[in-house]
Amino acid sequence: MMEKKMRGSSVFFPAVREQLPVIVRAEGIYLYQADGQRLIDAAGGVGAVTSIGHGVEEVIQAIAKQARKVAFIPFFQYMSEPALELCDLVATLTPGTLKKVMLLSGGSEATENAVRLARQYHLERGNPSKFKVISRWQGFHGMTLGATGFGGHTGRRRKFMPMVHDHPHIPPASRYRCQFCQKELECNLTCARMLEQTIKWEGPENVAAFIAEPVVGAAMGAVPAPEGYFQVVREICDIYDVVFIADEVMSGFGRTGEMFAINHWGVVPDILVAAKGVSGGYAPLAVLIAKEEIITPLERSNANFVAGHTYSMNPLAAAAGLAVLRYLLDHDLVSNAKAMGDYLLAGLSKLREMHAIVGDVRGKGLLTGIELVKEKGSKEPFPPEAKAAMTLTVEARERGLAIYPGTGSADGLVGDHALITPPMTIRREQVDELLGILDEALAATERALLR
Ligand SMILES: Cc1ncc(COP(=O)(O)O)c(C=O)c1O
Repeated sequence: MMEKKMRGSSVFFPAVREQLPVIVRAEGIYLYQADGQRLIDAAGGVGAVTSIGHGVEEVIQAIAKQARKVAFIPFFQYMSEPALELCDLVATLTPGTLKKVMLLSGGSEATENAVRLARQYHLERGNPSKFKVISRWQGFHGMTLGATGFGGHTGRRRKFMPMVHDHPHIPPASRYRCQFCQKELECNLTCARMLEQTIKWEGPENVAAFIAEPVVGAAMGAVPAPEGYFQVVREICDIYDVVFIADEVMSGFGRTGEMFAINHWGVVPDILVAAKGVSGGYAPLAVLIAKEEIITPLERSNANFVAGHTYSMNPLAAAAGLAVLRYLLDHDLVSNAKAMGDYLLAGLSKLREMHAIVGDVRGKGLLTGIELVKEKGSKEPFPPEAKAAMTLTVEARERGLAIYPGTGSADGLVGDHALITPPMTIRREQVDELLGILDEALAATERALLR
């Protein structure tokens, strides 16, 4: 007789051994577990996905309506109404000449395609030697093998290095742990100038693109680049004919208190990719937005962009994105993200004063993070076996708060942080509730780790 297996025993991902709590329902900023436990969703799914909150009826209706009309068409033969409308709407929100939009299914697809487009842009202009993509250590651009090669998250790269093309990297831009000026009174932007040095080392004739997150998310825990950083980057990219790609998979569409995080620096990248917030978790969706000048050489040589995936320009995902963006605009959630983000960061700063293990708090808008340390003065991180970020996450979860843990914030491998990225609909009293739970969870983590 066939043995009866335990429910879920066939699942090996994400954790090989761990059984995860089952979420049966979600509404607004809250998740509900099967055992009735209510959680504030400050993890936003996987870091900042849940932009407009859960269970928004307008979005559910829009998806159902589109599913009844047409759920799928092959992107290279037909176009759908929601895809057209979404691309046009996105183009009204982007700065400068960033007006050419492509719809994809996720962040990794978007960064991979941004890099492909940069390469094809150079090819169509007669620069076939340009192919290298410079990125930053401790930046993350996706789990696919291409993105692993131009990503800088050591812990997510090492096991796969023999299989990837290893592109050049420059140091991260992090004031708290800056290798150039953390002890100086002011940032001197050496980290940004390393881009020019690296382009020279690699040979400008070989460098196609530079990719960076304006606010580093999963790999460092909401670390914004210093003031002036992207202005320097923009200048360098212009001098050496290098395509500047802003990876806003996590920060895009309002989360940082600006429609796009790069707006905080007042510069326009050549290609911008965004994903999580555009559909708020209601459907797999990402957008790639290119400057008109990037597309013109392809048009001139009548060359199609050699790209595309089965679900590119998908009507159902587009309908979800359209409804989410309309909701975001109608309710002015970008302003709310700014106001509530400032309030949250002020609260986190108080927690840093109160708790020995909170070394740093940072972020922009509602893309915030905290870094845990063993000793504040020296910034000594916890050893990996202490599992500090995970301990905090479990303590928070048991008290009704979901946060997003990460490791590698100190040097790429060691160091613990957590992202705190609640939906952009969060209200002041809910931020208070979040901070109250986090306070208790930090106290419990301290007791466990500093025993
Ligand atoms: C900045 C950044 N780029 C790319 C990705 C990859 O996106 P996806 O997981 O949708 O492939 C992520 C995912 O967390 C991200 O945060």
